Amino acid sequence: MSPMKILISESEIQDRVRQLGMEISQDYHARIPTLVCVLKGSIIFFADVMRAITLDVICEFVQISSYANKSISSGETNLVHNFKTNFKDTDIIIVEDIIDTGLSLTLLIEEIQRTAPASLKVCSLLNKSSRRVKPVQIDYVGFEIDDHFVVGYGLDYAQKHRNLPHVAILDPSEIS
Ligand code: IMP
Ligand code: MG
Repeated sequence: MSPMKILISESEIQDRVRQLGMEISQDYHARIPTLVCVLKGSIIFFADVMRAITLDVICEFVQISSYANKSISSGETNLVHNFKTNFKDTDIIIVEDIIDTGLSLTLLIEEIQRTAPASLKVCSLLNKSSRRVKPVQIDYVGFEIDDHFVVGYGLDYAQKHRNLPHVAILDPSEIS
């Protein structure tokens, strides 16, 4: 692993994740939200934010692909895993690593809405709003970032760097 410029440190992430967990705990008081982990990039954030929530929660997992080893979105998204979960009457919180164009999230929201949940909110560690193609509402945002391709804390480039404890800007020499 080559050293990369740290954009958000491990302690900044941990502080913000704790705040988000407290906010969600207050907003969903006396309810049992279903947290939907969007594989694979959200796994670390999901595991941390889930433990920062002081309520009972239910965990579900979905996978969407859109990047296929590129650092620029292909603009085409497809749900990889068959979407069979029924969220009828449940309070859903989609937990994402980053919202970029908004295309994958839009697709996932449409799929979930079809199952008639009681409510649906979105929690994303990162938001690159300058790159938005589809407008989407994000209810809980960890950090607003500029248009950099970032890795670490679950986010990858060609499946690498997910295990960094911080968020770093991808070294341009790695982009193929
Ligand atoms: P969108 O459909 O363009 O919003 O892209 C959403 C997905 O692309 C995210 O959930 C990430 O998995 C991936 N992605 C977007 N930007 C980045 C980045 O800077 N680093 C790593 N993955 C990214
Ligand atoms: Mg993702």
